[in-house]
Amino acid sequence: MTPDLADALASDAARVEAALDGLLTPPAGPERRVFEAMRYACLAGGKRLRPFLVLESCRLCDSDGEGALRIAAALEMVHCYSLVHDDLPAMDDDDMRRGRPTVHKAFDEATAILAGDGLLTRAFEVLADPATHPDGGTRAALVLALARAAGPDGMVGGQMIDLAVEHVVTGIGEITRLQRLKTGALIQFACEAGALAARAPTPLHDALRFYAQDFGLAFQMIDDLLDVEGSAAAMGKAVGKDAARGKATFVSLLGVDRARDQAHRLADQAAAHLAPFGRRAGRLRDLAAWVVKRTS
Ligand code: IPE
Ligand code: IPE
Ligand code: MG
Ligand code: MG
Ligand code: MG
Repeated sequence: MTPDLADALASDAARVEAALDGLLTPPAGPERRVFEAMRYACLAGGKRLRPFLVLESCRLCDSDGEGALRIAAALEMVHCYSLVHDDLPAMDDDDMRRGRPTVHKAFDEATAILAGDGLLTRAFEVLADPATHPDGGTRAALVLALARAAGPDGMVGGQMIDLAVEHVVTGIGEITRLQRLKTGALIQFACEAGALAARAPTPLHDALRFYAQDFGLAFQMIDDLLDVEGSAAAMGKAVGKDAARGKATFVSLLGVDRARDQAHRLADQAAAHLAPFGRRAGRLRDLAAWVVKRTS
């Protein structure tokens, strides 16, 4: 990773953590437990890639500031909720996440379900708040885009397909669609957030969308690859789970080498879509190059 990208990722992650901390203040009553579980899910670890994509797309579209940080925090809440539910016994049944026990292990299943629900709804509360953007129409556009990305036509739909095709022979087209929904949709929201917040011209919005689509697929291919080749210590989560559960992944279909080649090709293609931003998009190009070399 380039030093500039490493610095930018670290400083954005710190800003987003501080924002999440402020948006998840626990109350005094017995409902405090759900806040503690929400904070546990959100406040330690994680690469914070999606918030970085939000902040970088906002910078590129000149809509930086407090609002961008709130959008980034809202999206990270939705991502963390998706992880909490993904790890539940009824889904992937995982005990470790981000290097520590999953939320249902550290708390209990009911609290994990509620913590996920709480993070999802708090995210929309944050987006809809006038502090996120002074213009109500822009806030509505952000809410609509995140709802579509997170819901049954996006991440939730992808998670359903992911479960439905366990132990089922699946083709590359079907897996691509699964991954576009499961992982790609939230990444696409992250990259489009700046364009939506700034009401950017269509060519710039399109450039970010196309970058996101290739980046998202490359990202998930490497997640699948690391499930085969990575170490639990580096990943902070169990490995070898996809094959054990008969999950259809890019790696189960293409094999390790072709999946890696394809991920690299997609990352290059993602970077090329950023041409309309010129040199200003250097960090997003570096991020695409790094994401396919990552080990965690
Ligand atoms: C894990 O996402 C879930 C997938 C969509 C593959 P990340 O690899 O971004 O997880 P964190 O946020 O860094 O823990
Ligand atoms: C989950 O994908 C993606 C989500 C929507 C949470 P995975 O099940 O592959 O994610 P990991 O490998 O558990 O992080
Ligand atoms: Mg899963
Ligand atoms: Mg999982
Ligand atoms: Mg995985």
